[in-house]
Amino acid sequence: MSEFKAPKGIPDYLPPDSAQFVAVRDGLLAAARSAGYGDVELPIFEETALFARGVGESTDVVSKEMYTFEDRGGRSVTLRPEGTAGVMRAVIEHGLDRGALPVKLCYAGPFFRYERPQAGRYRQLQQVGIEAIGVDDPALDAEVIAVADAGFRALGLDGFRLEITSLGDATCRPAYREKLQQFLFALDLDEDTRRRAEINPLRVLDDKRPEIKALTAEAPLMLDHLSDEAKKHFETVLAHLDALQVPYVINPRMVRGLDYYTKTTFEFVHDGLGAQSGIGGGGRYDGLMRELGGQDLSGIGFGLGVDRTLLALRAEGRTAGPAARVDVFCVPLGEQAKQELAVLAARLRSAGLRVDLAYGDRGLKGAMRAADRSGAGVALVAGDRDIAAGTVGLKDLSTGEQIDVAADAVVAETLARFGR
Ligand code: HAM
Repeated sequence: MSEFKAPKGIPDYLPPDSAQFVAVRDGLLAAARSAGYGDVELPIFEETALFARGVGESTDVVSKEMYTFEDRGGRSVTLRPEGTAGVMRAVIEHGLDRGALPVKLCYAGPFFRYERPQAGRYRQLQQVGIEAIGVDDPALDAEVIAVADAGFRALGLDGFRLEITSLGDATCRPAYREKLQQFLFALDLDEDTRRRAEINPLRVLDDKRPEIKALTAEAPLMLDHLSDEAKKHFETVLAHLDALQVPYVINPRMVRGLDYYTKTTFEFVHDGLGAQSGIGGGGRYDGLMRELGGQDLSGIGFGLGVDRTLLALRAEGRTAGPAARVDVFCVPLGEQAKQELAVLAARLRSAGLRVDLAYGDRGLKGAMRAADRSGAGVALVAGDRDIAAGTVGLKDLSTGEQIDVAADAVVAETLARFGR
């Protein structure tokens, strides 16, 4: 038993699984970059007020789940619970919104939420996100959604569905909120739920308790009360998704855990994951930039859960990323051979192959076991006498067949085995 453990609810990513994690993260990022999103690397922590104002004081994320502490200068800082507020802060601070619009940005990294840990729910979670800021064009909403859809599919995932709705705009949302509150206040609700109905009535529609679900079954829905403009916006998004052949289901009762959403709002749900079924989500946020002291520009984006996407792939029996750690494993027997094979390994690496070498003089048997474990397709085996004679043994580890190759031809011969 080791004395120290990782903090509760925080995963370590270790080989061989870490290769799959990286493949998922990079695969999702590749989908974003292919649509012209540029990478940003932003601080892991920010001023606490940024999240309080950006994400919303009444959300669980802000009121219960933030890692907030005072730094040595007495400032309140918070480990980022999500990416959108920080991106918006950086866009405003660096004046990116004064240049060509939309500003299209992507990011990947850890986020922190003090949630109750369980399968698929961590206190340090990894997301790939994109934000397209400054243009309110429904075609852009569809692009953002299509990028997520394409990213998941490129990884081989297909057991997910896209749920979508509209949360309305500044014209229709206040009136709907009032209507919903009137409906909720007429119900026989417990005190907590009643308070929630006062602060954030939409959240009551997300209550998982059967009795509340039954009570709110007939609650008015935002989708039935959209302004003409918001309605047209939503219909245009759907028409674009149809044209792009991105399948979706409309879920008018969808409630997101962050307060900044307006108009298009969506979630990707995977049924193989149990309770934590959301593998990604996002939407449009009309008022966020102004709320954070910037211009009054709209934006749209998503955050995809890398951890949950990996679990979803497993649930579908799929793997992402390379099956093996290396392509070639070198087995030197003797000092001279070790030096020669290390040089060959370096040349093969610069030619693009992944190469490892047996260190520590374990003898032929131990070294060949290490070669097998590495997953390499080819082993290069040589003793000092082979090196003196100018040959290296090239062993195909899948067939077991071994041939002697002239030392000066071994790089070319090995590359050829990998079709290079
Ligand atoms: P979110 O829905 O809070 O959105 O998180 C996005 C995704 O992160 C979720 O769908 C889920 O896959 C993953 N996730 C969230 N919490 C956890 C957790 N505790 N453990 C494991 N995975 C988790 C946002 O964060 C928004 N910033 C997305 C966005 C960007 N909206 C507009 N732009």
